[in-house]
Amino acid sequence: MGVKILSIGAWTPNKILTNDDLSKMVDTSDEWIRSKTGICQRHIADADTATSDIAINAAKLALERANISAEDLDCIIVATTSPDHHGFPSTSCIIQGKLGAVNAGAFDLVAACSGLAYGIEVARGFINNGTMKYVMVIGAEKLSSIINWNDRNTCCLFGDGAGALILSKSSEGEGDIIDSIIMADGTGEDALKIKAGGSRNPFTNELPSIEDLTLSMDGQAVYNFAVRVNTEMVQQLLDKHNLTSEDITWIVPHQANYRIIKAASKRLKISEDKFFMNLADYGNTSAASIGIALNEMYEKGILKRGDLIITMGFGAGLTYAANLIRY
Ligand code: UT7
Repeated sequence: MGVKILSIGAWTPNKILTNDDLSKMVDTSDEWIRSKTGICQRHIADADTATSDIAINAAKLALERANISAEDLDCIIVATTSPDHHGFPSTSCIIQGKLGAVNAGAFDLVAACSGLAYGIEVARGFINNGTMKYVMVIGAEKLSSIINWNDRNTCCLFGDGAGALILSKSSEGEGDIIDSIIMADGTGEDALKIKAGGSRNPFTNELPSIEDLTLSMDGQAVYNFAVRVNTEMVQQLLDKHNLTSEDITWIVPHQANYRIIKAASKRLKISEDKFFMNLADYGNTSAASIGIALNEMYEKGILKRGDLIITMGFGAGLTYAANLIRY
């Protein structure tokens, strides 16, 4: 007996912001963004759309594909760094209410871009210990709401969207979440941060500046960290389970920068073709990116039952996490 991915869903807003659009807003160019990141466009939600709205669309698709109803869910875990509200209520509670998941507990999980990989392991625990049958894990972001649109260092990197997974018990011969790595290096807290609005630097009558209320990043520090931990996590999972890269059908990385993946692929001596990438179309959607990638693979028919895959994320905290999954 194990825990399988029962279904996958995702949703991204229709509105697209291209690199050329961005070059009219800040001092940048399509050439710079493409060559430095691999991103060509990103999806941006309307002003009246919140993270929960984006997540609900992904959740409904996952429920439909699992052929279960919202009342069947035991828990909704939402990984997000751009919640509907600062502090509370949690975005997961809003989703639970609107879905009518009357039998489900709900909480948000803050592990930035590693959030979905963290959430998969938490859900596995709930199902394995027998307390829950169906757990929904959603990675959802409206990053456009926490970006400083005047900062060319960050505004061209991110996009909005959500990916949702439903996990349930599996029988012999079905899929399984085989193992996970859940890690952090909090000494890197300054590398990726929203500086104000929390207890360290609360709101006052003189509101913090837009720079302090939006995300700031030391891009090179995150880049170097990402290449290192992506390489280590894949190697660690392969070694621990006596696997070679030949055994793995897909590595599904957090979609941040194609150069990070290229560097990890080179260090691991694993062909780039094994790394699924779709960041050209979506940019970096943080906690949502792995879910959106899995959904695209599912819809294209290239993710097949029985495939052995590795999902892996890294992000603010700093956090990093990976899952070895028999799909
Ligand atoms: O989900 C996790 C979150 N974040 C990440 O994964 C990001 C990880 N880091 C990266 O992807 C890369 O570090 C970046 C794409 C952010 C930057 O690439 P880089 O090769 O590290 O570039 P850089 O920081 O060395 O910047 C080079 C130059 C700078 O100009 P100067 O100081 O050399 O004159 C920047 O000001 O590029 C400039 N620059 C830009 N130029 C045009 C920064 N952003 C832009 C821009 N357009 N949008």
